[in-house]
Amino acid sequence: MTTQEYRNTTTRRGLLGVATVGLGATIGGVLTTPVAAYLLAPTTQEATFHPVSLGPVRPFTSETGFAPTAAPYVEDPAQPLSSGLAYVHYTGGSDRDWLAPHAMFVVFSNRCTHVGCPAQASAIGFACPCHGSQFDQRGARIAGPAPRPLDRFQWEIRKDDQLWITQRWSVLLKGDRASYYPVKAPGQPLDGQIPAADALYPAVTYTHGPVPKSR
Ligand code: FES
Repeated sequence: MTTQEYRNTTTRRGLLGVATVGLGATIGGVLTTPVAAYLLAPTTQEATFHPVSLGPVRPFTSETGFAPTAAPYVEDPAQPLSSGLAYVHYTGGSDRDWLAPHAMFVVFSNRCTHVGCPAQASAIGFACPCHGSQFDQRGARIAGPAPRPLDRFQWEIRKDDQLWITQRWSVLLKGDRASYYPVKAPGQPLDGQIPAADALYPAVTYTHGPVPKSR
């Protein structure tokens, strides 16, 4: 798909996303009130992503096929409602550089990019229970109103073989290639900004260093 085709597609998806975002707000709000409260809190300033350990590497490398391991974490130690869930997929690779073509892990955010409900791992990838968005095993949207792929976490293996997530990025996928962008709010496509969605879900961004270049 060319960049222009991607933009056209995401724009159409974006309009569809706006059409459903109101309904989504109602249903999703019931299901995710604690998470939404946290997400909506930092509307006037950037939030800081606090690196956090997901635990020892070894349990994550026992995965065979596609069965990502759910890894709960606390996003901000000062915010008791800031619990999050990452899905750690062991690729079978051995490279500890998260951007390398044969990186050991891909770590997905479980927050659906439609209105932020918790997506769950499935045999084909990920499924969101709120309005039916489906994502493939790369996190790319394959059905439903989600306007973009699942976000991913930057990760690294630190002292004592602990797996840490150190930043969160929104992602553009082209085949096996991933390009990374500062995190977009739920309901927002990767390119552009939809004011109606923004009114419901003001942009939440994280302070971040240089945007990583895919290799
Ligand atoms: S929050 Fe609506 S499809 Fe996931």
